[in-house]
Amino acid sequence: MAKTKILVTGGTGYIGSHTTVELQQAGYEVVIIDNLSNSNIKVLDGIEHITGIRPAFVEGDMTDIETMRRLFTDYPDIKGIINFAASKAVGESVEKPLLYYRNNLVGLLNLLELMPQFGVKGIVFSSSCTVYGEPDTNPIDESAPIKPATSPYGNTKQISEEIISDVIHAGAPIKSILLRYFNPVGAHPSGEIGELPIGVPQNLIPYLTQAAAGIRKELTVFGNDYPTPDGTCIRDFIDVVDLARAHVIAMHRMLDNADTAPLEIFNLGTGRGLSVLQLIESFERATGVKVPYHIGARRAGDIEKIWADPKKANEVLGWKADTDIDDTMRNAWKWQLKVMPKN
Ligand code: UD1
Repeated sequence: MAKTKILVTGGTGYIGSHTTVELQQAGYEVVIIDNLSNSNIKVLDGIEHITGIRPAFVEGDMTDIETMRRLFTDYPDIKGIINFAASKAVGESVEKPLLYYRNNLVGLLNLLELMPQFGVKGIVFSSSCTVYGEPDTNPIDESAPIKPATSPYGNTKQISEEIISDVIHAGAPIKSILLRYFNPVGAHPSGEIGELPIGVPQNLIPYLTQAAAGIRKELTVFGNDYPTPDGTCIRDFIDVVDLARAHVIAMHRMLDNADTAPLEIFNLGTGRGLSVLQLIESFERATGVKVPYHIGARRAGDIEKIWADPKKANEVLGWKADTDIDDTMRNAWKWQLKVMPKN
């Protein structure tokens, strides 16, 4: 039987590459489109080393509808899409809002317009817990209120969710699952793929591993005067492979289960909040390597504490993020050592 074909947009990126591996290992055929604006073509080698299969790859920009029309013509029978392709640096989005609105929204509009024309049945959308803003209570489930976005990046996630919802309510013959990620971290245990930030990392783990490796002088912990047990912010750090597995389950549910609602939303987190200092401790425990750090000022716009109630995903998807955080940190370190510039 022919394999079900899935388009993964942003498939050479961090979460996209890990999800491609899981899809291939579950028996799906993957076609990737990526403009390589924040990823490297060598990621395809890493994927192939793990699975033995090199995914089809189109280098192109999703915001160009003709590129997308050609892709669906060249690769007929794509049944599902996972839409990772998007810009994701919060600070940059404040400085370049048009770039963010164009990249993150126009590509999605193109997909939604072309899906019915090419018989694509479903789209899984990469959303974020950022839609909840600073939550009133934790853990947070899917019924929690959506708060006004604090950055153009966050706003593109909210608007994308609304666009998909409006299109489905208007009767488009497609289904969608919106996945709201908490904080994805770690790397594939094989050490073949991981997060590859270009330039100075903005997120905690890539900065931390680069500081531990001596590439950065030291990590700055942004604030220790928050009303949390150790004063640092709390997040729900979820292993990227656990996160990737959820996409495979969501895709299967969307395409092969006729009884599910056309639009569903799931929080993807562990249900466990860890502080920034606890994460540093986990890294040091797991690797035996010290993290050079100092306490600095708060970072503007940071959420104080947020962690998921993942009960809906646990029960409805039959999925659970259960990788031990120390294993996740060990994998992040293994990856950092692999990508270290050799001198
Ligand atoms: C942010 C975005 C989120 C987005 C994600 C991916 C917000 C509120 N959050 O998550 O929507 O999906 O990036 O780009 O817009 N930290 C340090 N030192 C550092 C870096 C981070 O102490 O050098 C701290 C931060 O203050 C924070 C925690 O580590 O408390 C996690 O930060 P980060 O990895 O940047 O993720 P978020 O801000 O949670």
